[in-house]
Amino acid sequence: MSRGAFIVFEGLDRAGKSTQVSMLLQALKDRSIPAQKQVFPDRTTAIGGIINDYLAKKVELPSEAVHLLFSANRWECKNSIQESLEKGTTLVVDRYAASGAAYSSVTTGRPLEWCRAPDQGLPAPDLVLFLEVSPEAQKTRPDWGGERFERDETQSKVAKSFRQLATSNWVFVDAGRTKEEVHQDVLDFALKAIEACKQQPIGKLDE
Ligand code: TMP
Ligand code: MG
Repeated sequence: MSRGAFIVFEGLDRAGKSTQVSMLLQALKDRSIPAQKQVFPDRTTAIGGIINDYLAKKVELPSEAVHLLFSANRWECKNSIQESLEKGTTLVVDRYAASGAAYSSVTTGRPLEWCRAPDQGLPAPDLVLFLEVSPEAQKTRPDWGGERFERDETQSKVAKSFRQLATSNWVFVDAGRTKEEVHQDVLDFALKAIEACKQQPIGKLDE
């Protein structure tokens, strides 16, 4: 039996990731391709609850501790990710390890290698769709600026870190267009990835 694809959306805050995740899931459903959504941080777990309070500025924690919580939040889901992919379900994921490293390299000031280390050994994405958005467009989107990292200076530094993390399975998508235009590109890349990884083993981050 062929496995599902591990498809991750990355990008700055308010790049339109959640919208594109929903549109891609619907398009896969329409094609009878089994697919499931996963969001990081997963705010529904015990660890996710602390992350949520930290992002909402209700608790203060050292940036390094938060970094490890974000990673732990992914490790909590490792088995379910693996099982879903193995049974043939494609995962459409809103943020993953690259967000962890890109944001924390800015907030902790530590090297990218340090930030990447806790995620090593987790299942690796087959495709990373990086949604590019301009600072002007970000601000026009609802609720901008409410959460902890939603500041211009942080976002522009995070954008630079993301670029340093890109590998051959990343594609950069211009998210400044209409959501339908963005979706067309996304769907195209996703269908190719689903086909290409069918008989491939699931990769691991940095191993
Ligand atoms: P969200 O806006 O996608 O819900 O993510 C919440 C914030 O958390 C966002 O500013 C990005 C940040 N983040 C990290 O700093 N590290 C991580 O590992 C993840 C998944 C998100
Ligand atoms: Mg956000």
